[in-house]
Amino acid sequence: MKQKNSLKLSILAILSVLTLLLAGCGGGSQQASGGNEASGKEQTYTFKATHVTQETHVWHQTALKFGEELDKLSNGRMKLDVYPASQLGPEKDMVSQLETGAIDFGFLTNAYMSTRQESLNAWFMPFAFKSLKDAVAVRESAPAKDMLKELEAQGLVGLDFGFAGNRHILMKDGHIASPADLKGKKVRIIGSPAIQDFWTAIGAGPTAMPLPEVYTSLQTGVIDGIDIDLDALVTEKYYENAENLTLTNHFTFPTVIVMSQASYNKLSAEDQEIVKTAIKNAVDWGVQEAINRESANLETLKQAGVKVEELTDATSFESMIKQVEETYSQKSPIIKAFLEETKK
Ligand code: BEZ
Repeated sequence: MKQKNSLKLSILAILSVLTLLLAGCGGGSQQASGGNEASGKEQTYTFKATHVTQETHVWHQTALKFGEELDKLSNGRMKLDVYPASQLGPEKDMVSQLETGAIDFGFLTNAYMSTRQESLNAWFMPFAFKSLKDAVAVRESAPAKDMLKELEAQGLVGLDFGFAGNRHILMKDGHIASPADLKGKKVRIIGSPAIQDFWTAIGAGPTAMPLPEVYTSLQTGVIDGIDIDLDALVTEKYYENAENLTLTNHFTFPTVIVMSQASYNKLSAEDQEIVKTAIKNAVDWGVQEAINRESANLETLKQAGVKVEELTDATSFESMIKQVEETYSQKSPIIKAFLEETKK
């Protein structure tokens, strides 16, 4: 009898350890982020979101708005902690943590994600959009939705695209009227295949570099200029080291907003709908905010003494635009369809 009892106790102890181990390794980001407690019938969550930008950037503001929407639509059951400025690691690490469910949501640069998924290069077809408004108009197009769907292959649920302002060119010396003004110039870019190819076709020296290195590189003359959006330009004060801004709108600059598939699968169908509605509401607000900021940021830059000119005629870039469009249309049918959408 004594032997039987001790056998029972041993089995119980092993089962308890196994249960604890399974809870710890379940990849449940709600568990990893300290939430997912059942209160009566109601499931509660504390999600984690992360991104690379500073707290003043429109992507961070959009993430905060998303948190408010989750809270409101779930009657307080869903909370969101937002970790800005790469606090949880660089984007490569963010994606690894999203894959396991250690992070629930990522506002990832489309630039980084275009190194992992070909179709996302579609957003970087040069001079595809005359303004940020034009870019936002294709956010919900069928090819854009196809790009989000493809993210499933990486264990991610593609939720939406948000936007920072379109990209322009800030140079230490002079403005840009044609590709000749950029020949041989070292220009900082964010790493992305299509962005790199466009700058190479121009004959410039594209130099991929993370944002934190840009200020000093401009100051010391390691680079001659940068490819940048106005929000980042104002936030990071790059104009202190280069004062010639040409408004080109040569690229738009989206963030791909994703949820960990592991975290998503743990939600009820109703809670999945809450997440989708909350992100749509937040991004609807965020894109309008980004559009409003374009003119406000421009005013700030002018007040700071930046010399601003507009590139009104992009025809001298025609052959480079064609080259990139043809190359990338052949790489992915989604890019081909997206380009057709932008030309409608
Ligand atoms: C950049 O690396 O250029 C960048 C990244 C995120 C937001 C804005 C700019």
